[in-house]
Amino acid sequence: MLPSEDQFQLATYKKMPIAAARGVDVWLYTSDGEKYLDLYGGHAVAGTGHCHPHVVSAIREQASTLLFYSNLVYSEARARAAEKLVSIAPSPLAKTFFCNSGTEANENAMRMARMSTRREIIITFSGGFHGRTADAISATFLGKYRELGKPNVPGHLQAEFGNIESVRALADDTIAAIMLEPIQSMAGVRMAQPDFYRSLRELCDERGIVLIYDEVQTGVGRTGDWFFAGSEAGAGVVPDIVTLAKALGSGVPVGACLVSEAIASHIKENDLGTTFGGGMLAMAAVTATLEAIETDGMLANVKRVERYLRSRLKEVEQVKAVHGLGFLLGIEFNDKAARVHQALLDRKIITGTSSDPRVLRLLPPLCLKEEHVELFVNALS
Ligand SMILES: Cc1ncc(COP(=O)(O)O)c(C=O)c1O
Repeated sequence: MLPSEDQFQLATYKKMPIAAARGVDVWLYTSDGEKYLDLYGGHAVAGTGHCHPHVVSAIREQASTLLFYSNLVYSEARARAAEKLVSIAPSPLAKTFFCNSGTEANENAMRMARMSTRREIIITFSGGFHGRTADAISATFLGKYRELGKPNVPGHLQAEFGNIESVRALADDTIAAIMLEPIQSMAGVRMAQPDFYRSLRELCDERGIVLIYDEVQTGVGRTGDWFFAGSEAGAGVVPDIVTLAKALGSGVPVGACLVSEAIASHIKENDLGTTFGGGMLAMAAVTATLEAIETDGMLANVKRVERYLRSRLKEVEQVKAVHGLGFLLGIEFNDKAARVHQALLDRKIITGTSSDPRVLRLLPPLCLKEEHVELFVNALS
């Protein structure tokens, strides 16, 4: 028996017919006592796995001390989270702004770009997804999402992902920012050549444009590095702003912008704000999440297990290609991925689909091990 959600909630989600009751590590337990291997991580949120003991204990401790106070007072919990986040960020990213979700992080990033350049237009890409609030959905040129935001906010142009000439053609002196998902997740886990990221950085430097990476999915260890920004796969390119959410709080809602000193110097009192951003409970979750990833060696784990998974998938005849990086992987089939998704669910393995009907998405916790890969590959075979 499934809970009565459908009776009292808007029918906005296509749900899997299971009810989540509790989670441990890479496992999700349903209310009827079944155990599922979670290769979807609640849409890339359970980065540290479900209910990581260090994260749970930090949240518990903070909840019994102070749940929330606004940004109008100082807080140790907030100071610790900001310092920790900046300490793992590539230079010159040196300041944070905390908010509550990915879409909000992107809205604030675009706003900072407009404030610091005094220009209005944002270039984003075909296939990119940036959220569902007004400005973020207007920056989203994936499928029909943009239509949902009609009338769209003005000041958005679309370029072709991976094609630097298409960006160059638009990049005049009205452009405030170029924003991209460095790996386009919803579009079917699409990556560009390293040269594309390098050329974007050069173009932005040359024309005074702010470069924004939407790392809502790729950030916080998912690719096997803390961020795609500054990583080898991304040609070492560091943008001016990185946006984060999803795995940042291990499930406690939190978003953030990581910002360079140069951009930060244009932002003054009252330019940005949010009631809940930087609240103590979320901040305790952020610090503990980053500590858990570090202490458990999850970045190295992602790289090692990714290699193993790729090698095992080579043995599965129906797999045409594996796209992406680390634990953001798109497995391409000749057949419809939705059928594979369902067949895996029948075998008690949760995966994700994407906008590309042939691509099955994996966004598992960063603590996934070889033994779990075995279960997956055997089921897939
Ligand atoms: C790349 C990317 N950006 C932004 C968002 C929006 O994040 P949120 O749903 O937290 O607003 C998402 C959500 O899936 C995302 O994948």
